[in-house]
This record gives sequence, C-alpha cells and structure tokens, in this order.
Amino acid sequence: MLKRLFARKPMRGEFVELDDERHGLRRHLKAIHLISIGIGAIIGAGIFVITGQAAAEYAGPAVVLSFIVASFICIFAGLCYAELSSLIPISGGSYSYSYVSMGEFPAWIVGWVVTAQYLASASTVAVGWSGYFMSILKDFGLYLPSDFAQAPFAYDAATGLGWSGAILNIPAMFLVALVCLLISIGIKAAAHFTNAMVAIKLSTILLFICIGLFHINPANWTPFIPDNTGVFGEFGWSGILRGAGLVFFAYVGFDTVSTLAQDAVNPQKDLPRGILGSLGICTIAYIITALILTGVVSYTLLGVPDPMAIALNAMGPQFFWIGFIVKIAILAGLSSVVLVQLLGQTRVFLAISKDGLLPHRFAKLHSTLRTPVFSSTITGITSMLIAGFFPVDILGSLVSMTTLFLFTIVCLGVWILRHTHPEFNRPFKVPLVPYIPLIGIIICIAQMCFLPLITWLQLALWLLLGLAIYFGYGVRNSKISKCK
Ligand code: ALA
Repeated sequence: MLKRLFARKPMRGEFVELDDERHGLRRHLKAIHLISIGIGAIIGAGIFVITGQAAAEYAGPAVVLSFIVASFICIFAGLCYAELSSLIPISGGSYSYSYVSMGEFPAWIVGWVVTAQYLASASTVAVGWSGYFMSILKDFGLYLPSDFAQAPFAYDAATGLGWSGAILNIPAMFLVALVCLLISIGIKAAAHFTNAMVAIKLSTILLFICIGLFHINPANWTPFIPDNTGVFGEFGWSGILRGAGLVFFAYVGFDTVSTLAQDAVNPQKDLPRGILGSLGICTIAYIITALILTGVVSYTLLGVPDPMAIALNAMGPQFFWIGFIVKIAILAGLSSVVLVQLLGQTRVFLAISKDGLLPHRFAKLHSTLRTPVFSSTITGITSMLIAGFFPVDILGSLVSMTTLFLFTIVCLGVWILRHTHPEFNRPFKVPLVPYIPLIGIIICIAQMCFLPLITWLQLALWLLLGLAIYFGYGVRNSKISKCK
C-alpha cells in the first residue's frame, strides 16, 4: 500500500504522452503571453488595496522595504518553479512536479492545496472588486444595500468567527460567474481579455507613477521607518516584517504560469521566462508605486479601500477625474486576476483528473469550445459561494498559508529531483542548489508560523476533506497504480 501511495510518475515516456496535443487544449501561448498572464494574476488587490493598509497600520513609508522582503521569498520560490517548469513541462504546476519528485499521495495533497489557494485567492480578489464596484456606484449616485454586498460571516481575532448581519456579497458572486463564462468560451478569448487588462493595469500604475513623481513631498518619508509603538508588528522593524506578511499577497499568482504548460507553444523555454519575467516586472512596479504612494500622501491616511484614489485626490482637485478613471481601471485589473486564478484551477483539475484521481468529467473538453466546461462550472460555483459568504481577512490569510505551503514543496522538489534525476536536461537551472531551495524552505516555514491559528485550522479541515476524497475515490481509480 505504502509503495502505491508513493508511486512516482516517470520522468519521460508517459509524460511525453500525457503532454500530447491529442489531449486537445489548443497551444496558443508564447513567452510574451505567459508574462502577460503572470502579470494578470499578480497585480491586483495587493498593490491597489493592501499596500495602503500595510503602510497605515504596520510599516509606514517603509512598506517599500516590506515589498523588498516579500519579493525575496518569491524570488527563491520563483527560481524553483522556473527549473521545474522547464524540466517537467506539463500542466498542473506544483501538483505535477510533486507527482514526479515525491509520488502520488503527496501530489494529491499538493493538488488539493493548490485548489484551496486558487479558490481562496480568486474569491479574495472578487470581494476586493466588490468594494471598488460599490464605491463607483456611489460616485454615480447609485446605491445597493450593503447587506447585499458584504459577507454574512465575519472574523475577529478576539471573538473568532461570527455573523456580520449582512446577507450575501452579490457583486463578488456576479464577477466570478462572469469570469467563468469567459473561461468556458476559450483560452484565446481569455488570453485576449487578460492582455487588455494587463495593459490597463500597467498603464494605471505608470500613470500614477508619472503624475505622482511631481507631487512628492519628501516630508512624508520622514521618518522612513516610524518608531515601534511598543506592540510587536506596529511600525519599526517588526512592522516591516508584519507588513511583508501582508503584502506577500501582492505577489501571489506568478506560479499560475506553471499550470499552463499545455497551452504554451514552447513550454520548456517559455514557462521560466513567463514566471521570472512577470515576477521581475511586478517587483519593480510595486517598489516604485509604494515609494510614490507614501511620498505623495502621509502613510497615516492610507488605511482605506482605495489608497491610490486618496493619493490622487491629495494632488489637487484637477486630478479627481483621474482618480475616477483609476478606480475603473482597478476594477478591470482585479477581474483579470480572478480570471487567471480560475483558469489555473481548471487546468489543475484537468491534470489531476487525467491521472485518475478525480472523475474523468473534470478533464473532458467541450466538443466545439475545446475547454473543460464541466470543471469550469464546478470551479465557478465553488468560488461564487466562497466569495459570497466569506470576508477578505479570513480568505487572505488562507491564501498566504496555502501559497507558502506550495512554495515549500516546490523548493523541496527541486532538491529531490537534483538527487534522483541529475542526468536530465534542465533548460533552466536554479543556481547554488541546495542552498537556494533550502533557504526558500526555511523562510516559507518561518512565515507560516506567524499565521493565525484559525488559518491552520482551515488548512487542517481542508486536508481532511482531501484525504476523504483521495481514499474514497482517487486511490481506487489512479491510473499509475493500474499501470503497475
Ligand atoms: N497577487 C494578487 C493580488 O494582489 C492575488 O490581487
């Protein structure tokens, strides 16, 4: 039994077959599209919403340093994702990498955690979208009762999970439904939409930087690291670290590129370019944006849902309309994050189902659209329910927990495969192995330890559900054990 649970996929042969065009997804994506999809998944609520909160509550202008700290974690993991994606260029990302490096059972666990990560992050961003949507409705003098735009569940560190009194977050559910429709229409439509959204997001950030440069008041950067209030994590160096934990969310998404191998024209070369290219561009954009944001307006004013609009308003009344355009652009930008996350999720289901660990229907493509309509529908309904019922804080820390868990596994995977298969050609190689993966693992585990107990409980419950599905279905239908 134990041998079965840890049966590994071979590095060649079956892999190449599994990755065959016969499985039907159309290969449309080149390096530039993958970089664009990466940026589409990365830039979202993190920079547009959470940066302000991190500056106002934890780090002050030194939120810039929080971004640099968070980028380090991602760079270690990003390098490991790049190596594995060039070595194992098939759909499924970290799920597939673990199947090869550690075996079926660990791979299922990873696939199941990836599912939580995508569903939670798409839902978090959908909830953020709902906040901006309400604010724009208000600008037009329109009004939707807040009971229908907020989660019925609320979380408070002191009292735990409770009721907010609201009924349902309908705008967030509406966005998820719309995005799922687009994904079902086809990868090309989704890629065109993402490209357009990425252009809008980058232009928004560029516009903000260009205008902001002329309105910086250096006094806002003094002190650059505000004194700690006496409470751990409230400003000072501990505040920078806590801020890093928060803005880490802003980087989540680059790993999505690794799930799209079967949509890529030349996955071995283009996946590493997509992963590292999107991560690099976003890191630079984030650092400059955070610098400008805290230079234009005092960090004490940034703890709002729309910090960029606040900064633009502070530049003068003539920038009011730009603030409005920025809000619209942010709405568009957030929707592309939801799209890429849900798209990645359908591809993970596809990979798991092809291995027999989920019913075949999850891998079945629609006869004319050539997209996995069934798995898009299941993904959409689940994400709609999560976005409709849960608040951002519960979802956000679950995203961090699951992402750090996956980063740890991917770093471990690089290390294991260098031992078990040193002979294979790696078009992209992580330098200084085992130090880089090892440092990556240590930093990720340390960050996980700082997350609240409720997030550990959420992870534990999710894993229990995963175990039930695996032992109830997967173990009996696994293709690899039927072959042996
Ligand atoms: N990185 C994504 C965002 O900031 C999840 O919205």
